[in-house]
Amino acid sequence: MPDPTSRAAELIAKIDERRAKVVVLGQGYVGLLVAMRAAEVGFPVVGYDVAPGRVEALLAGRSYVEDVPDARVAAALAAGYLPTQDAADLRDFDVALITVQTPLRENTPDLSFIEAAARDLAACLTPGALVVLESTTYPGTTDELLRPILEESGLRTADGDFFVGYSPERIDPGNTEWTFVNTAKVVSGLDADSLAVVEAFYGALVDKIVPVGSTGEAELVKLLENTFRHVNIALVNELAMFARDLGVDIWSAIDAAATKPYGFMRFAPGPGAGGHCLPVDPAYLAWRVERRIGQRFRFVELANEVNRGMPDYVVARVTALLNDERRAVNGARILLLGLAYKAGTSDWRVSPAMAIAERLAQLGADVRAHDPLVPDDAVLGPPIARVPCTVAELEAADLVVLCVDHAELPYDDIVDHARLVLDTRGRLRGLGFRGESL
Ligand SMILES: NC(=O)c1ccc[n+]([C@@H]2O[C@H](COP(=O)([O-])OP(=O)(O)OC[C@H]3O[C@@H](n4cnc5c(N)ncnc54)[C@H](O)[C@@H]3O)[C@@H](O)[C@H]2O)c1
Repeated sequence: MPDPTSRAAELIAKIDERRAKVVVLGQGYVGLLVAMRAAEVGFPVVGYDVAPGRVEALLAGRSYVEDVPDARVAAALAAGYLPTQDAADLRDFDVALITVQTPLRENTPDLSFIEAAARDLAACLTPGALVVLESTTYPGTTDELLRPILEESGLRTADGDFFVGYSPERIDPGNTEWTFVNTAKVVSGLDADSLAVVEAFYGALVDKIVPVGSTGEAELVKLLENTFRHVNIALVNELAMFARDLGVDIWSAIDAAATKPYGFMRFAPGPGAGGHCLPVDPAYLAWRVERRIGQRFRFVELANEVNRGMPDYVVARVTALLNDERRAVNGARILLLGLAYKAGTSDWRVSPAMAIAERLAQLGADVRAHDPLVPDDAVLGPPIARVPCTVAELEAADLVVLCVDHAELPYDDIVDHARLVLDTRGRLRGLGFRGESL
């Protein structure tokens, strides 16, 4: 029977020669990008997803991820990339990446998608293969949840039968400067041989890898990064509310503080923290801390409280601005600019702008919205009329709320024609607009 080290050497040789069959479970934002990159560097790649619509789109060369153009999918298909919803196509894999979603259900981590993916892999696991989890999750998941399911195959990591790793994803949708390839990738393995094969694989995909000592450490890295952002956004949000009452311009103070070349990092206030990572990932960490050691993660609780309260604060500022004009929110025509959760993306789910729209509509406002990136046929929750951002719409609105500072918005027209603006992103500062920044 071959020893684990020679098995690892065999897999590394297959990786180096691009003979290793790579299967990616989950073809969402993360999985599709990784699959495209693996195909581009020459691996035979299977993209497995349980959502039929997604697989059909990919087979037809259509991408639903804005960072992946259709041409990239077409090129991957031509190179042999196989999108599929048939688990039989996973057979004989050498490297499997799990990139399925990890949502919260009633504030509790829902790892059922990882479990289902792991079961599919266990059914076709062969000696010498590597399985890497990429989904964001709490420390301990790879060793305590993924490994035991894979071992239902009868193979054992302790005997060196197969290799297991964890590598968090750092994809930032819409970011063209820091991409999958030039962003350093943290990698880990359950043991030395696992780490060696994980390093060989990701070394083939990205410019720089950062090996860490255990899968738990790598899992914590991702949650630390996102909790750090969540807490710092909450800090400037809370400060923005106090600074206004103190009569101090928070934006100028932040700009000046950001000139310090060490020990400070710039975070900007805004209408709340949205997207799939910031509101969710810190909760994974807080849940684990509470379950495992019985402690409350107070920083996360406080950051949640502050960031979740921001849409209400924006509505309070809208109310005050209209009040100064002797107007009520009820019956006011309010134009929201930007519905996505951040600039540069079309993703409007879990977006603070949606919460603002909902509250204003409940108060009786006539809410209209424009977003240059969110498709007009997106099924939005609150009753919002989608309109173009024309001079006529700007002039007809009692108040314009700039929720997201997409580069595509007509800022000159907003400054010249809006009667009153609440700028939640500080984008219009210094431009002489009528209204206020947050
Ligand atoms: N989107 C991001 O910017 C981002 C960045 C870093 C990390 N992450 C993390 O990466 C993970 C994936 O995120 P995403 O945004 O790509 O999610 P997503 O929802 O866009 O994609 C997940 C895909 O997995 C598929 N899927 C579910 N169960 C499956 C199974 N058993 N087998 C095969 N496919 C299955 C779903 O149909 C879906 O297409 C999450 O843990 C997320 O927190 C996301």
